[in-house]
Amino acid sequence: MATFALLVAAAAVAAQQSSLAPTTTTLDFSVTSSLPVSSQLSIQTSIQATSVLESISASVSDEPASTVTASESASSSAEPQLQSPAPSIPITQYTFEPFPTPSQASVPGVFVETDPLDPPPVDAPVIPDFAPAWATAYAKAKKLISTFTLEEKVNVTTGVGWMNGLCVGNIPAVKDWPGLCLEDAPLGIRFADYVTSFPTGVNTAATFNRRLIRLRGLFMGREFVGKGVNIALGPMMNLGRVAQGGRNWEGFGADPYLAGEASYETILGMQEGGVQACAKHIIANEQEHKRTTSSSNLDDRTQHEIYGHPFLRSVMAGVTSVMCSYNQVNGTYACENDKVLNDLLKREYGFQGFAMSDWQATHSTISAITGLDMTMPGDVTFNSGDSYFGANLTAYVQNGTIPESRLDDMATRIIAGWYLLKQDSEDYPATNFNAFHPDDEATNKHIDVQAEGVDRLVRDIGAASTVLLKNKGNVLPLRKPRSLVLVGSDAGPGRHGPNAVADHGGVDGVLASGWGSGTANFTYLVSPLEAIQRRARKDHTSMSWFLDDWDLARAGNVVIGKTAALVFVNSDSGEQYITVDGNEGDRKNLTAWNNGDNLILAVAAQNNNTIVITHSVGPLIVEPWIDHPNVTAVLWAGVAGTETGNAIKDVLYGDWNPSGRLPYTIAKKVEDYSAQLVLGGGGDQDILALPYNEGLEIDYRHFDAKNITPRFEFGFGLSYTKFSYGNLEIERVPNQDGTQVDLEEAWEQGKPSPHGQGSSAALWLHRPAFRVSFHVKNTGKLFGGDIPQLYVNFPKSSGEPPSVLRGFTNVELLPGQSKRLDIMLSRYDLSVWDTVGQGWRKPEGDIRVSVGASSRDIRVKGRIPV
Ligand SMILES: *[C@@H]1O[C@H](CO)[C@@H](O)[C@H](O)[C@H]1NC(C)=O
Ligand SMILES: *[C@@H]1O[C@H](CO)[C@@H](O)[C@H](O)[C@H]1NC(C)=O
Ligand SMILES: *[C@@H]1O[C@H](CO)[C@@H](O)[C@H](O)[C@H]1NC(C)=O
Ligand SMILES: *[C@@H]1O[C@H](CO)[C@@H](O)[C@H](O)[C@H]1NC(C)=O
Ligand SMILES: *[C@@H]1O[C@H](CO)[C@@H](O)[C@H](O)[C@H]1NC(C)=O
Ligand SMILES: *[C@@H]1O[C@H](CO)[C@@H](O)[C@H](O)[C@H]1NC(C)=O
Ligand SMILES: *[C@@H]1O[C@H](CO)[C@@H](O)[C@H](O)[C@H]1NC(C)=O
Ligand SMILES: *[C@@H]1O[C@H](CO)[C@@H](O)[C@H](O)[C@H]1NC(C)=O
Repeated sequence: MATFALLVAAAAVAAQQSSLAPTTTTLDFSVTSSLPVSSQLSIQTSIQATSVLESISASVSDEPASTVTASESASSSAEPQLQSPAPSIPITQYTFEPFPTPSQASVPGVFVETDPLDPPPVDAPVIPDFAPAWATAYAKAKKLISTFTLEEKVNVTTGVGWMNGLCVGNIPAVKDWPGLCLEDAPLGIRFADYVTSFPTGVNTAATFNRRLIRLRGLFMGREFVGKGVNIALGPMMNLGRVAQGGRNWEGFGADPYLAGEASYETILGMQEGGVQACAKHIIANEQEHKRTTSSSNLDDRTQHEIYGHPFLRSVMAGVTSVMCSYNQVNGTYACENDKVLNDLLKREYGFQGFAMSDWQATHSTISAITGLDMTMPGDVTFNSGDSYFGANLTAYVQNGTIPESRLDDMATRIIAGWYLLKQDSEDYPATNFNAFHPDDEATNKHIDVQAEGVDRLVRDIGAASTVLLKNKGNVLPLRKPRSLVLVGSDAGPGRHGPNAVADHGGVDGVLASGWGSGTANFTYLVSPLEAIQRRARKDHTSMSWFLDDWDLARAGNVVIGKTAALVFVNSDSGEQYITVDGNEGDRKNLTAWNNGDNLILAVAAQNNNTIVITHSVGPLIVEPWIDHPNVTAVLWAGVAGTETGNAIKDVLYGDWNPSGRLPYTIAKKVEDYSAQLVLGGGGDQDILALPYNEGLEIDYRHFDAKNITPRFEFGFGLSYTKFSYGNLEIERVPNQDGTQVDLEEAWEQGKPSPHGQGSSAALWLHRPAFRVSFHVKNTGKLFGGDIPQLYVNFPKSSGEPPSVLRGFTNVELLPGQSKRLDIMLSRYDLSVWDTVGQGWRKPEGDIRVSVGASSRDIRVKGRIPV
């Protein structure tokens, strides 16, 4: 292994430290080092001032590593485990067999031939069949590349290099083909103006509402198209395995099924909007510390059932691109991992699109053989001027090491995505912004891509994702309070504006985004203070605030005698290249920032109606104050994007009856979680082992299996009304079209599904097999929405955790109203991964289902009739 030191300019951060908020920020690298001032936008260039040169090193292997798996570290001792690099894949001649298109034919009404620009509606009982659309796109792509030279085909696979184009990733034009613009982020367009900063992934998941998730994808997709982006770099679907994980907020929580459904709906929405989506980061990229020099070591079953599942759902949504992750899997880098990219993604899942590297995550030219189709941003390390693809790939093809048929396959997959979304249309906007030089008037056209109604959608998702954790004596919703006081810096606006620091690498005022590449600038940002004050005026409430987190004595004084004291606290995290207050991406603890716990206690000591609102990227330990008798209510607001203040106001005043549910467990102490952040790990050349030894038991699965009482369990959330459940029935869904009956029968007999091209996405496995129906009734006094959740309880002998989420729905009911609801279960939902048979199998014994209001609040039960 050789280590390449990478010197990058860092932007100094706008002075945002102060005695009030002792938050320091270090930017390891940044892309904003030379911004001209735009008079039109009057953007402050305060970022430029004192640049620090920071050296980060990326460890790059001379030779490609092998697909042969390394030994798994079984130890979970406190000392971090280091492992030696796996043996190399030899540079020798390879042959290439293209993966055939999955052969199953569309079945009208069940497996419906689908154009990604016109997906089935949310909750439609059909599975979209994108194969015909892919076939058409492939034919067009093959025709186009038949006119390209070898070098031109190589160019389709090779980014132009860091900061050498308008977007964060750029594929150059070839002849009349215009090339591709690839742009962050999973919640909106990074480095652009007049865009929406949508709610984060984790908040989106907390809605448990497929319609809202789909709409967010659609509105986001249209914004990307409006700016002329071809490929949007999201959604992000790594799981909240480690509560401190820096990028957890970009993803969809700690449950694979929830993350899978959220990925599915997001991609259907984004691609309906016209932009190509990118499912990232495959696979097991669950902590930031040493993300480029660590190996996630996980077993086959865990990989299939937990971490792979959201990627399978993405493929089923017709996603055109997948991004491989920085880390190694079992000692081989994900971007040159034959097992991950070829076996799992392209063969078993039947993925037709292209695999791109994360930025600088390519480690060899031979990665083309192990499944990588595109290297991003193109150069070996940022601005190194060379590439593992480019001239190297040309040479490898010319001397027969890599067959030209494989290069054709790479270029075909990439260009097929472009045709699949009809980006060849003359109406498709040219790229009209400049990620790295937003003030360049020649290239940034400042196009406003925010649609009518998008603010309302962002606000509704914000409200729908707010989780009511405590509401003693029904103090909420607020009813014309005589007086209110808002306490904590998180209640108000940041002192240096909504975009004080590049990529939101700092906390100042209300937290509405994490930090890193997964962010977008705020075109505007509504603080809780602004929204609540406006609303309070309607009732002539006497309104006050105290935004100082550190003067506890005064904070205690100002709340005396007030009808309610609303205390706002937060906790932030982000991507590894930015350090904020000693948090190197991952959070160093699970407590509130900026003196939050003490602030809550100081207020609660003086006010018997203390309402806590948390803006947090993930779980917080709430033990210091949750049982305090004066803490009457707690609202978990997550990281909700640009309308966060309005969303909180809507919930506080009952304009939105809370329906958000926790997408992860809140433990009583950090040790209760089954997976911890692994720190340490030696120098840049040492590979830090991340043993995924907890296997299937992440988050609530572990708390259930080990009988640990959490503070608030996965799926938990209160409402201002009450719901009752009853009359659960389960019936078989007949196979009316008579296709693949033999496979269904074999499954029934407990045989593993056959393994082959697209086998994990097969129709018979995913079509509805059982209908679970039940009644839900609103037994309270207010209109409201409920989120019934279905958990499958496999027999103990299956090795599954006691209960696993396999369904959810949402229902809105008037007081006294009831509805019968259906949740469909597929054979896949009722299967476990058989590591011997390499297929999905029904385990032996009774399979039971539990339906209820959380993972621990089960109301009705039944048994699957198999
Ligand atoms: C390939 O792309 C590079 C820019 O990355 C360009 O300089 C070069 O001319 C292109 N080569 C061909 C054959 O199109
Ligand atoms: C986004 O915010 C950063 C940080 O304030 C700023 O430097 C940059 O110019 C903004 N970008 C756009 C496109 O407005
Ligand atoms: C990792 O190693 C485990 C244990 O040997 C194996 O079950 C799994 O399939 C491997 N996964 C990859 C991607 O190599
Ligand atoms: C080819 O790849 C090697 C690393 O294997 C790199 O050092 C070299 O600069 C690359 N050559 C070109 C022309 O990009
Ligand atoms: C082909 O070219 C690559 C890159 O220059 C080299 O590493 C490899 O050994 C060559 N193979 C043959 C058979 O010449
Ligand atoms: C946890 O980290 C935050 C952010 O760095 C810091 O403000 C806080 O003091 C830490 N909490 C504890 C208990 O150390
Ligand atoms: C609760 O608040 C009241 C003031 O309303 C205060 O007198 C009392 O001591 C507080 N209780 C506790 C346990 O701090
Ligand atoms: C707080 O104390 C006041 C005065 O004793 C009382 O009127 C009020 O009901 C209390 N509020 C709560 C939420 O307990």
